[in-house]
Amino acid sequence: MNKKLIFLILLLNLKFICIADEGMWLPQLIEALAIKDMKKNGFKLSSKQIYDINKASMKDAVCVFAGGCTAEVISTKGLILTNHHCGFSSIAALSTVEKDYLKNGYAALSGKEEMPCKNLTVTFIKQIEDVTSKVVGSLLPTYSDIQRDSAVQANIKKIETETKISSGYDVFVRPFFYGNEYYLFQTQSYKDVRLVLTPPESLGKFGDETDNWVWPRHNADFSMFRIYADKENKPSEYSENNVPYTPAYSFPISLKGYNKGDFTMVYGFPGRTQEYLTSYAVDFIMNNQDPTRVNLREKRLAIMDADMKNNDTIRLMYTSRYAGVANYYKKWKGEMLGLKKSNAVEKKQQFEQEFLTALNNDAAKKEKYSNLLLQFKKTYEDYKPLSKQFDYFAECLWGVDGFRYASSASVLFTELKKKQEGKANKFDATLSEYKQLLAFNNFNKPTDKKLFIAMLTDYSANIESNYRPHILDSLLLAYKGNINGLADFMYSNSSFNDKAKAKLMFEDFEKNAMLYARDPMYVLSVDILSYYQKGVMPQINYLDLQITDMQKEYVKGLRETLKNKKFYPDANSTLRVAFGKVNDYSPRDGVQNAHYTTIDGIIEKNKTGLEDFYIKPRLIELYNKKDFGNYTDKEGKLRVAFIASNHTTGGNSGSPVLNANGELIGTNFDRNWEGTMSDIMYNPIFCRNIVLDVRFTLWIVDKYSGAGYLLNEMKLAK
Ligand code: ARG
Ligand code: GLU
Repeated sequence: MNKKLIFLILLLNLKFICIADEGMWLPQLIEALAIKDMKKNGFKLSSKQIYDINKASMKDAVCVFAGGCTAEVISTKGLILTNHHCGFSSIAALSTVEKDYLKNGYAALSGKEEMPCKNLTVTFIKQIEDVTSKVVGSLLPTYSDIQRDSAVQANIKKIETETKISSGYDVFVRPFFYGNEYYLFQTQSYKDVRLVLTPPESLGKFGDETDNWVWPRHNADFSMFRIYADKENKPSEYSENNVPYTPAYSFPISLKGYNKGDFTMVYGFPGRTQEYLTSYAVDFIMNNQDPTRVNLREKRLAIMDADMKNNDTIRLMYTSRYAGVANYYKKWKGEMLGLKKSNAVEKKQQFEQEFLTALNNDAAKKEKYSNLLLQFKKTYEDYKPLSKQFDYFAECLWGVDGFRYASSASVLFTELKKKQEGKANKFDATLSEYKQLLAFNNFNKPTDKKLFIAMLTDYSANIESNYRPHILDSLLLAYKGNINGLADFMYSNSSFNDKAKAKLMFEDFEKNAMLYARDPMYVLSVDILSYYQKGVMPQINYLDLQITDMQKEYVKGLRETLKNKKFYPDANSTLRVAFGKVNDYSPRDGVQNAHYTTIDGIIEKNKTGLEDFYIKPRLIELYNKKDFGNYTDKEGKLRVAFIASNHTTGGNSGSPVLNANGELIGTNFDRNWEGTMSDIMYNPIFCRNIVLDVRFTLWIVDKYSGAGYLLNEMKLAK
């Protein structure tokens, strides 16, 4: 064969392999769109075993956990596995200073010891149905945008109501491909969910912020719960009489491990991706939005961090918030770098050029779609300054508690006015809610004042005078630009940022409301808030709608034109399947990151003495005894985590990671820093999902926590 031909075939193959890793597929469309590729990559089962509405299938063992994560059923008695960071708030809510399950971990040694978690629900998908024609079939081409939207909403409502009555399940309809398609989901939620086992934080969060979004990784990010149901196996509120739920399907667990190159699949509920953006949007995110947000968060984090380091009480106050702010700070930073590194804008431009060229062959399509890209360009120009204003509001001002506390009081005044005028009102309820917000539990006044100074300084330096509320300029003028002076005034004369003053205020709020309505912090923050609510948000909302409409047309055009490409819809918190393979990667020239880590790494990291790598003596003891049971790999190593090329995002936390036989080999919990750009553009060379090896999970259950009895209810494939 001639060399050119061989090269071409290799290239095509390479391209095929790349495509195989990208994508989050709707389970009911696997047969049509993905099963061939899955099989080529090693998958041994059928699409019906993944999703079937008539028979038990894998989908019956995957659920939404606590609203935003995924969990999987791993026993016939309703035992479920998810991440530690997903169970975190439920574990925290059960913990007290005396019984600190976060710190010490917990293992129920019998059903009686399983602890009910308030407000924790899990939701299963019963059926998914394409309802596009029912939603948009009756729309007339002559409809205006507004008529169209309201007809769509009305049709959705009708479908939801009818299906709920006929099926008895909860239902929702969601748009896909920006509203080119609509799917109906029937769901069933269980509300009696109990904590069974959690490792101590030192393991579940080992590496904490230092290691977050980082590979190589070593934390046992898992926790176990059990679903309870009534005697008929139906959902029920918590009751002593409830019994462990019998699932239609539960995942067998593999102790055989995996090798580099092995097929893997992730089944879960990814939250949000934007894979079909234009070059203008990617340029905007990478060069405007992400840098703005990252900068603002960096300053806030530095202030919190300095104060947290100095004082343990402050540390506890801010730790959870710090983690939340830091999580996406770090993600966006990785995203910017990844997009730059892979020349994302140029790639999108090339792609757009191909699209335009393809349109040239079809006059009708050309007429319909060729102007779209110019419209995107113009709309993003309009969007940029508004989005900057929005970010400076959301990330800057709203990040100051004093500001948030004070501005949130405005409903209180509205309800009080109604009350005083003898009208129907919710003043009492609003006041008691507001008192909870203003409990100052996680608030340190000097820290907040520092945040106020830093954020206002940044704000006034970066948002030009004609794009900000006048009150700010008047105040800055009055203080001759001295923001420290302004802060002194705001933090010594307001009742909204001072615990003692707030307490007094609540005692006579009704009587002296007029006085509190003149509180300087209140006046300032309410003015700023209404400037944003009334002046900025309507414009942003308008452009958001425009962009969605344009994206809808753009994706439609792409799908009509690029007939050979298989399209998967962006993540939208619905059930998806991603598949790829176990694989290492190179983060930069000369460095190759291995595809798995072992317990040796925990010990190594612990030896750095850094606080984030603290572990309890028990782990070191077991490590020294090499008491690894039959949870090791062939070399006798106890593996902790591995990486694979599955396309995942936030919401996939806790998702089952399965091998070619559909056996559980791990629990998804993160992505590598270099690869967080996959929310916008997936790159198979270095985008990896991070998975906790199920053998490490079982080792902790059995050897570390002494709850080996739980393994009896699991189906282990040895
Ligand atoms: N990065 C992971 C995710 O996006 C883990 C977040 C929780 N951990 C943390 N250190 N903040 O959810
Ligand atoms: N930690 C994320 C979550 O909570 C998963 C990581 C990601 O964004 O891929 O869903």
